[in-house]
Amino acid sequence: MSIEIFGHLTHRDESEAHLSGGASIDPDYIERQAREHEFAGFDGVLVGGGGDGPDSLQIAAHAVAHTRKLNYLVAYRPGLISPTLAARAYATLDQISGGRIRLHAITGRDSDGQKKYGDPLQKSNRYERTREFIQILKKSWTERGGFDFAGKHFEIEGFAASIFPHQQPRIPIYFAGNSDEAFSVGASEADGYALYAQPLDLLKEDIARIHSEAKAAGRVDFPQIIVLVRIIIGATDELAWDRAEGLRADAIDQTKSITPKLTRWVPARDGRDASAGDRKQVEANKRGERHDKALWTGLSGLTERGKSTALVGSPETIVSALLDYVDAGVSTFILDGFNRLRDVPELGNYLLPLLRDRLAEHQSKQAAAVA
Ligand SMILES: Cc1cc2nc3c(=O)[nH]c(=O)nc-3n(C[C@H](O)[C@H](O)[C@H](O)COP(=O)(O)O)c2cc1C
Repeated sequence: MSIEIFGHLTHRDESEAHLSGGASIDPDYIERQAREHEFAGFDGVLVGGGGDGPDSLQIAAHAVAHTRKLNYLVAYRPGLISPTLAARAYATLDQISGGRIRLHAITGRDSDGQKKYGDPLQKSNRYERTREFIQILKKSWTERGGFDFAGKHFEIEGFAASIFPHQQPRIPIYFAGNSDEAFSVGASEADGYALYAQPLDLLKEDIARIHSEAKAAGRVDFPQIIVLVRIIIGATDELAWDRAEGLRADAIDQTKSITPKLTRWVPARDGRDASAGDRKQVEANKRGERHDKALWTGLSGLTERGKSTALVGSPETIVSALLDYVDAGVSTFILDGFNRLRDVPELGNYLLPLLRDRLAEHQSKQAAAVA
């Protein structure tokens, strides 16, 4: 199994520890960060998408024009735009980029939040709609003779695209979500299932659930497992933990200066804005801040966001923790920092070469054990 390493391309320089009060989008930053990721040896980047920020597909299009090899996992909220229109938009960018696009289906965390986009559906119905949306994408990208679709949320008659993806048979579809309905939809329809980093025992439970739902849906393969984790690296474990504490202090400072306009992560005190994935992190944090070899839920405990969960340590420690995830069944990592202008080159210099060496060793040992 080949392991892919992705980074995270944001539309401006900001993180939980470092909020941006500047322009709502920074094209120079996007260009530079895309190039930095490519130069640092990342296979690709996640281009996330919220409901009210810049359009993720257009951010990816800008970055595609400034890179040659980097792949883009581009977040999309199914349902707000017609699925055949989305299929054409992704196929167009896949052609322009020479096959470097993947779609990341995001169903949206809370139902009240979706209303502001004109979406009245509750989460369980939204997952049902996501399922139909993915099925239509697959047909739009593969059925050359056109197709009809009759579902609960979409009815399509005689759609025949004249633009198909560069990738064959189609663009890979990834998925995230921890609600009960999410597991069923993602495990049966997606090529890749993305999870936040979490203590190994909890991650293994999620992977087992994805596998059993995939089997129940009659799949012969399992979706690939992707894990998103923040990396806090230091020359030694102690120095890395000092950095982690510094980031926590910065994040606490940010909460003091938060205004609704600047907020990227106001803690969900009333639980309304919490996704099931975020709630799991809050629960994990109640067991303690440090888990397994290097996992730290201190910052996700503060932000109440699963995406803030980090691995902390020297390159050796972090690589060892990542290999434990590989043994649990993870095949793609999204490794993100908190200060990406500094972190991306640093990961390229100190972590990625070591990780790739150790992965090669690890896999040849596994192959020898099987032979
Ligand atoms: C790797 C990964 C990437 C994610 N990217 C986004 C994103 O770009 N935008 C977003 O709103 N949510 C993102 N999420 C969060 C969830 O998928 C989202 O909250 C989901 O729609 C609802 O999840 P729930 O079923 O766990 O409540 C991401 C989650 C993971 C694990």
